[in-house]
Amino acid sequence: MTDRLDGRVAIVTGAGGGIGAATAARLARDGAKVIAADLQEPQLDGAVNEAFDLTDEGSIAAFIDRVMARFGRIDIVHNNAALQSEAQRQRDLDVVQLDAEVWDAAMAVNARGPMLLCKHAIPHMIAGGGGSIIHSSSGFGQLGESTLTAYGASKAALINLSRFIATQYGREKIRSNVIVIGFVLTPVAIATTPQEIKDLIAAQHLLPALGTPENIADVVAFLASDDASFITGAAIPVDGGFTAHQPTFADMRAFFAKVGGSKL
Ligand SMILES: NC(=O)c1ccc[n+]([C@@H]2O[C@H](COP(=O)([O-])OP(=O)(O)OC[C@H]3O[C@@H](n4cnc5c(N)ncnc54)[C@H](O)[C@@H]3O)[C@@H](O)[C@H]2O)c1
Repeated sequence: MTDRLDGRVAIVTGAGGGIGAATAARLARDGAKVIAADLQEPQLDGAVNEAFDLTDEGSIAAFIDRVMARFGRIDIVHNNAALQSEAQRQRDLDVVQLDAEVWDAAMAVNARGPMLLCKHAIPHMIAGGGGSIIHSSSGFGQLGESTLTAYGASKAALINLSRFIATQYGREKIRSNVIVIGFVLTPVAIATTPQEIKDLIAAQHLLPALGTPENIADVVAFLASDDASFITGAAIPVDGGFTAHQPTFADMRAFFAKVGGSKL
């Protein structure tokens, strides 16, 4: 706990659970006044809980109006909500099997929604002297996979949206950074990911443990604070080294464990 965000007003989207809930709690512990927003109103202690729909520009505009009416400023936005429902994930397949409506739904929540939130928040942030926007992207936005095509493409869009915002409003003291998140043990991930898959993912990590929502919240709090005052336009992997190595790394480690030594 620090006081480095004392007096700052922070919006966290997707705060109904997982990473967003952890970030909302962390920003509040660092002194921020936190607005926790989600499709259904979150139930977080120590935050103002709000419902809004990222697919609806009118809902976003009304939400920002409510924040301004209550707090009079916006300093921090954690653009974190995403469409990750089971129904969506089951239909988000390879390109040939992908229904256009699944693609559109991913884009609407994961790319268009964050853009619209920024559109309505940034003028108030500029009027207040600047601020920090942190977007939650994913390794799926940087690297290919056999499935989750729409999710991956939407998360790639978010990575470059962040750079465009950083480029366009830097002189008005708006910082925009994106965290490229790896596998995180949210309550949902703990409940729904088979142990075999967790082991397979863990083998690709450079650090010994899988990530927690608090690991992500720590980085968001840093990027939100003046400690990160010279960082903007960055895409920062927060993934225990998952994307830092050769694709054959885990297989090689298993191979050398079998044959002994560490070099051919
Ligand atoms: N958990 C992981 O392993 C992981 C990995 C990489 C990236 N991420 C990213 O981190 C972020 C948070 O992930 P999480 O696992 O905590 O997810 P989560 O599913 O718990 O949270 C996402 C929230 O977004 C909300 N949401 C969905 N549609 C919405 C809409 N139309 N309007 C408003 N809110 C809406 C959902 O209700 C949900 O509470 C997401 O952007 C996700 O893509 C997560």
